[in-house]
Amino acid sequence: MSAECFVIAIDGPSGAGKSTTSKRVAAELGLSYLDSGALYRAVGLAALEAGVDLSDEASLSAVLERTSIEMKDDGRVVELNGRDVSSRIREPDVTDAASRTSALPLVRHHLIELQRSSVRPPGAVVEGRDMGTVVFPDADLKVFLDADAPERAHRRAAELAAKTGAPPPLEEVGRAMAERDHRDSTRANAPLRAAEGAFVLDSTHMSLEEVVSAILTRAAQMRARK
Ligand code: DC
Repeated sequence: MSAECFVIAIDGPSGAGKSTTSKRVAAELGLSYLDSGALYRAVGLAALEAGVDLSDEASLSAVLERTSIEMKDDGRVVELNGRDVSSRIREPDVTDAASRTSALPLVRHHLIELQRSSVRPPGAVVEGRDMGTVVFPDADLKVFLDADAPERAHRRAAELAAKTGAPPPLEEVGRAMAERDHRDSTRANAPLRAAEGAFVLDSTHMSLEEVVSAILTRAAQMRARK
């Protein structure tokens, strides 16, 4: 990452609105967008398709050696060995597999350079769980975007309903999300947590416009200091 890059790192639990917010902030500032979760999802899918034990580092290592993961069209398209898997990686079995395989140091190590090298001038909004803590520790602005659990479950259920046309049971969405967030925040390697000095935003009672505007105000302050 070069010094001419302006980087905004947005971390937080699932359903907090990171993706929508990050895309909007990136568009407003003319920056690119990195959805690091999509890379972890692609690894989860590769592991599922290979039929390996999701906690077995040796087997996963062999799978990763013969796997290519690419992001195209400013993160809108994810390719696994040249195949467009952008929709497939959003399905529940991949969501669960990604949370499991992302706990392994080998997987995190494998993806770190891909994430860093994807950021070029003028910069990017990078979204995930460890953007501000591990991958981009020198980010110009670090945001930890949160919302209370019922609100996050509600948002995720609405998102799934919009995609599939059928609203999923809210309780089930909440349960799966709580399990995943617990795993993501208690793992030994790069757990989900707010980076030191992060701008912590509880969006429970905020609209998307308010969240985007709060981040843009902070970004303008940081840019003025750069
Ligand atoms: O953001 P997401 O829900 O698409 O992420 C899918 C999984 O990938 C999530 O359960 C945790 C993992 N992940 C991670 O460990 N580190 C990141 N920077 C992004 C995602």
